[in-house]
Amino acid sequence: MSDAKYRRVLLKVSGEVLAGDQGYGIDPKMLDTIAEEIKEIASMGVETAVVIGGGNIFRGIAGSAAGMERTSADYMGMLATVLNALALQNILEKKGVFTRVQSAIEMKELAEGYIRRKAIRHLEKKRVVIFAAGTGNPYFSTDTAAVLRAMEIGAEVILKGTKVDGVFDRDPMKDPAARKFSELTFFEVIEKGLKIMDSTAVTLCMDNNLPLIVFNVKEKENIRKVLTGERVGTIIRKSR
Ligand code: GTP
Repeated sequence: MSDAKYRRVLLKVSGEVLAGDQGYGIDPKMLDTIAEEIKEIASMGVETAVVIGGGNIFRGIAGSAAGMERTSADYMGMLATVLNALALQNILEKKGVFTRVQSAIEMKELAEGYIRRKAIRHLEKKRVVIFAAGTGNPYFSTDTAAVLRAMEIGAEVILKGTKVDGVFDRDPMKDPAARKFSELTFFEVIEKGLKIMDSTAVTLCMDNNLPLIVFNVKEKENIRKVLTGERVGTIIRKSR
């Protein structure tokens, strides 16, 4: 065991992160980086669930599905998360990390269906549980799925791995003068219009008092620092 501050966490990885520098699909180097981070969390004895996005494969109505009916586009996005989940499962198991994939849309030939109590049992047995297919419903983002699953399994915190160091007042990729916040409240996130997650996900966190840490997944040491309570990235809570 280790000096981890948390017993159970949910890691949200966006599809975009998985695409790495190639901007589309799964970058094997990035997949490896993320798998190493997850292995590190698991090796610290922390029970780990993962929700993965799908934007690296299918961007939804804002991109590939322009002009398409929203519900169809959203289902296609959910299928994209299943591809990512299977890729992540594969690399984790190659690294010796036991995993289970649970899908919110039944496809029993390739993954277990989502059953809350079974997911908790897997976590207790120190398996990494990867939740695929979002919430299984259109109109809900994978960020919202992450918050929902985190609450259902009793995670103490959501770790949101991104390509940047935390939450900034402007886009740090476009403006080098952007300033990073080290802490925020969910209310401030809404008030300032900061684009961390969609507003459904943010209010769900706020209403249920679930803290969120946004950090750079590309920095190797970050995950260990986050788990031992070192200040990394931006922490967002209900109140300061
Ligand atoms: P415990 O009984 O708690 O030890 O969990 P377990 O996951 O090892 O038991 P189970 O017998 O349910 O699963 C054995 C394997 O089959 C695991 O790799 C599961 O992920 C997989 N599995 C279980 N249910 C399904 C399913 O509905 N579809 C698919 N494709 N695989 C499943």
